Amino acid sequence: MIFVDACFNKPTPYTPVWMMRQAGRYLPEYMAVREEAGDFLSLCKDPEKAAEVTLQPIDIIGVDAAILFSDILVIPLEMGMDLKFEKGEGPVFSDPIRTKEDLKRLKPDAHERLTYVYDTIRIIKERLADDKALIGFTGAPWTLITYMIEGRGTKTYNIVKKLIYTEPELVHALLREVTEVVKLYLEKQIEAGVDVVQIFDSWAAALEKPKYFEFSWNYMKEVASYIKKKYPHIPIIMFPKGIGAYLDEIDGDFDVFGVDWGTPMALAKEKLGDRYVLQGNMEPCRLYSKEATKECVESLYETMQNRGHIFNLGHGILPDVPVENAKYFVSLVHEITKEK
Ligand code: CP3
Repeated sequence: MIFVDACFNKPTPYTPVWMMRQAGRYLPEYMAVREEAGDFLSLCKDPEKAAEVTLQPIDIIGVDAAILFSDILVIPLEMGMDLKFEKGEGPVFSDPIRTKEDLKRLKPDAHERLTYVYDTIRIIKERLADDKALIGFTGAPWTLITYMIEGRGTKTYNIVKKLIYTEPELVHALLREVTEVVKLYLEKQIEAGVDVVQIFDSWAAALEKPKYFEFSWNYMKEVASYIKKKYPHIPIIMFPKGIGAYLDEIDGDFDVFGVDWGTPMALAKEKLGDRYVLQGNMEPCRLYSKEATKECVESLYETMQNRGHIFNLGHGILPDVPVENAKYFVSLVHEITKEK
């Protein structure tokens, strides 16, 4: 599988490419299935339909890997929290975790209730071509607990950060609990058939450097080591968004480092390129213009041609990107990296 080979830095006939959030609202075919399902969470819980939207970008866009259609927040949902996706606002939990008492509400066996995810994986693997990889994923414990504590998206992270500086033990207790679920959840995804796993730390940049390593990276590393020991043949991709200034202290037992669009690829290559394959990192808004896309693909190719690389965006694709431009990006990557 070319994608898995690339993750392990083995030679490949061209550089593989996929896009974060590739199964999503920019595709009319996705909107049609979501409409049938009723809403986003119902779609996540319907294995037949979730498998269908997972496979759409393979057929329509031509990417080298499918990413399981689900959401990072199904973990807190199945730990017993009340999750709703509200129009114009995104995810909201009506019952955030803020005290030791609140911790007692959480169920430690969420991975046992995420059966709809494992069913989705089995259906996808039946239908996915043998040369395409399926990526499973989880949120990083830190990103998950910011939602669990804040209850919704936040610009300041003041509620969770107040706890970090005033009640760090409470935050660590929650992180430990979520980390255990995350390990078992990824393990179950692997047993169901995913070929690769990615850990999304979308809110990494909320923390100053020492706190980042203490409250996030160490837990991500713990998850990675656990998976690596049991499943050395499964590549692990770490994607902490926005920590370009912390790269000199990045280490751990994983294979691919996902570079966000705010971190210059040349810098990531200098700091990490001899230890990890790098994934990324076109600024997603370049997809509004074919010229801007071409310029970036060529320059990333120049920078990365003697190093392990997987093409991707530096964060998720946006809902109003023309499908044609997404196709152009993928075919251009294949063309340029094949011919040279
Ligand atoms: O194609 C894929 O990448 C796979 C599916 C996927 C989704 N969410 C589908 C989704 C993945 C990997 C995620 C991860 C996720 N979810 C993250 C980490 C990645 C990142 O983008 O940083 C985060 C922070 C979440 C939480 C979340 N889920 C938010 C903040 C939102 C609302 C955002 C928005 O654009 O409205 C979601 C909803 C969500 N998850 C959608 C999709 C396709 C949009 C739902 C819809 O309206 O159809």
